[in-house]
Amino acid sequence: MRRTGTLREMVRETNLSASDLALPLFVELGTDSRTPIEAMPGVERLSISHAVEEAGVAHALGVPAVLLFGIPTEKDAQGSGAYDDEGVVQLAVRAIKEAHPELLVMTDVCLCGYTSHGHCGVVRPDGAVDNDITLELLAKTAISHARAGSDAVAPSDMMDGRVGALRSQLDAEGHSETPILAYSAKFSSAFYGPFREAAGSAPAFGDRRSYQMDPANADEALREVRLDVEEGADIVMVKPALAYLDVIRRVKDETRMPVAAYNVSGEYAMIKAAAAAGYIDERAAVLEALTGIRRAGADIVITYHAKDAAEWLK
Ligand code: PBG
Repeated sequence: MRRTGTLREMVRETNLSASDLALPLFVELGTDSRTPIEAMPGVERLSISHAVEEAGVAHALGVPAVLLFGIPTEKDAQGSGAYDDEGVVQLAVRAIKEAHPELLVMTDVCLCGYTSHGHCGVVRPDGAVDNDITLELLAKTAISHARAGSDAVAPSDMMDGRVGALRSQLDAEGHSETPILAYSAKFSSAFYGPFREAAGSAPAFGDRRSYQMDPANADEALREVRLDVEEGADIVMVKPALAYLDVIRRVKDETRMPVAAYNVSGEYAMIKAAAAAGYIDERAAVLEALTGIRRAGADIVITYHAKDAAEWLK
């Protein structure tokens, strides 16, 4: 087909715009800090005042949402910093919402950044994660985030029944309007490596294979997504994004739910490293990758490239 510039735009099937993006932020306690993350050039752990500033910059560029991860000063076996009303995420949510009430602030709900052993839940003496005790603590965390003003809670742990537990306990505590963005199809992935440095959440022993999915399985991803939808998920997520574009497409086609895709830390690091070495054109590669994730069926793309992409898309 012959296409002039205008016609090319008119028949374009996929649009990528800043309004599709959400920027993850790592928030730490401390007064005035920006701590670089070695494997994620351009991404830093931010003290609350800097997180407020960064959220404002993203918002001004047209990025409508941020996703907060907290880095507590102290960790314990129960991950109690996660559900402390004065915890780092809770303080950050209040500060960001106060400064930028129009910005959507979503919060990651998991214990792995808060537990001394780095697992996503409470570990039993036999070394396995106790699903049911963990559910109670995750629900407490989500309620605490909602109370602080979180606009959407995003459980990322993969315990069985967590979406239902969060929904019923949020409702019981008067937060029936708080949506759940469920990390429904979360694969056990090597691409989380840089994030674990950022959040200090690498498991001290063992791995997450017992509760994250085998990269080889797509039908299983669909089953996990359906369970989360039945339990009350408002938006379902596929993570990582680029090695799982077929899963994003199937989730979209087979559920017709709003779908988010998480373009994770290792995906970001690959492009940054190759661009820094002069092997690829960063801008073109980022926009192509994000367009591909949208084309696969994602409504929302969570990405560390959000600010750069928004700037380039202007
Ligand atoms: C916590 C969590 C992880 C990520 C998001 N939430 C890490 C993990 O499961 O190890 C990864 C995000 C990224 O790599 O950018 N459960």
